Amino acid sequence: MKTIIEPFRIKSVEPIRFTTKEERIKIIKDAGYNTFLIHADDVLIDLLTDSGTSAMSASQWAGVMEGDESYAGSRSFYKFESAVKKITGHEFIIPTHQGRAAEKILFTILGGAGKYIPNNTHFDTTRANVEFTGAEAVDLLNEIGKKPEVKADFKGNMDVEKLEEFIKKVGKENIPLVMITITNNSGGGQPVSMQNIKDVRAVCDKYNLPLFLDACRFAENAYFIKKREKGYEGKSILEICQEMFSYSDGSTMSAKKDGLVNIGGFLSLNNDELAMQCRNLLIVTEGFPTYGGLAGRDLEAVAIGLEEVVDENYLHYRIRSTEYLGEKIVAAGVPIIEPPGGHAIYIDAKRFLPDIPPYEFPGQAITCELYIEGGIRAVEIGSVMFGKYDKEGSIVSPPMELVRLAIPRRVYTQSHIDFVAEVVIEVFNNRDKLRGYKIIYEAPMLRHFTAKFEPMK
Ligand code: F0G
Repeated sequence: MKTIIEPFRIKSVEPIRFTTKEERIKIIKDAGYNTFLIHADDVLIDLLTDSGTSAMSASQWAGVMEGDESYAGSRSFYKFESAVKKITGHEFIIPTHQGRAAEKILFTILGGAGKYIPNNTHFDTTRANVEFTGAEAVDLLNEIGKKPEVKADFKGNMDVEKLEEFIKKVGKENIPLVMITITNNSGGGQPVSMQNIKDVRAVCDKYNLPLFLDACRFAENAYFIKKREKGYEGKSILEICQEMFSYSDGSTMSAKKDGLVNIGGFLSLNNDELAMQCRNLLIVTEGFPTYGGLAGRDLEAVAIGLEEVVDENYLHYRIRSTEYLGEKIVAAGVPIIEPPGGHAIYIDAKRFLPDIPPYEFPGQAITCELYIEGGIRAVEIGSVMFGKYDKEGSIVSPPMELVRLAIPRRVYTQSHIDFVAEVVIEVFNNRDKLRGYKIIYEAPMLRHFTAKFEPMK
């Protein structure tokens, strides 16, 4: 059969609230034209993020009841630890309340002024955590990954030559670790090939550098490897995951993505000295090492989620539903990063609105219009999120201006996705009416969360 069905039945439903276009025009204005500042009740289809928005399974909810809330040595921790070890093979597993807490701990210990962290592309919180220590976050994405219109299998790959040049330039003593983000969220949810992970590993071995994975979407990455990389067709998703992690010395993980939970994360590593330092910091900032800022029930839900996420039927449906949205809007002429990524569709705002320059935030204009037109909440990933000011006060824009439609896991059905496609196409067909925006308030770091905007006259 050609039709791919949701591999679950729905046992519990959550109503969504309908609003009128007039109401939404007022709501978005009151929110300073920032979709982060809209009340979720005023959103019809929430594609702000795929993080922490998964629907949990009946087994996970049952696990919640099973959770052991002991402060130390909780049974749920050991279940969590063994689920993480099964996938990563790493020796030391440190729970954290989410991904950025793992990043904060790792970079507080290994970062600092004069240090450099290479990555294919840092996610915004990863970059912020690196930079907060005074270190520099360096993106070394391969060239093809920067071309939204070019279709290729592994557009998340790191540029291995550039990595080696970079190590030679700044000196290996100034690089505490190399990181690869799977899949590459900020670069369009694009996967990284096994070959690329191996090649980066080889460079790390040559210079004796540890390699860490930012593993948020490891299962989606493994599915792409299975489908697109020669030699992996016959392997199970779990085997592919295990091989990916086998080339790494550690990982930071937001279980809010491929852990299929609403909260949780971890830091996994093989170096015992570093693990000890991380645990000491964890105790100060997150909690005792067998709960790390989570409740026992959360650890239980992560342990079960990690088993469910490597199910190929689930991943088939997951990746196909994202692709389905991509195909529908591309067929209507909407420019996106091609091919569609794993967890999201990224609209290419530069090609969608060629007349609005990056410093007038074309991605923000599309984001606001998607909300007004259909109550859809998306997020800008462009000059609002990553723009910086130079010494003269002009905005230095990132290479791409994108709007991300992130798909929560196991939450929306095909008719929801059909509706989203219809709204996107409607906004695209009326794109001549869109105007740019200017920022009227911004915070010094991670400004996209709280910035306020005004439409240009
Ligand atoms: N790394 C990547 C690649 C991410 O996508 C995220 C979160 C994090 C780290 C941080 O994890 O949120 O648990 O602290 N991404 C979310 C998103 C927020 O919407 O893409 P966290």
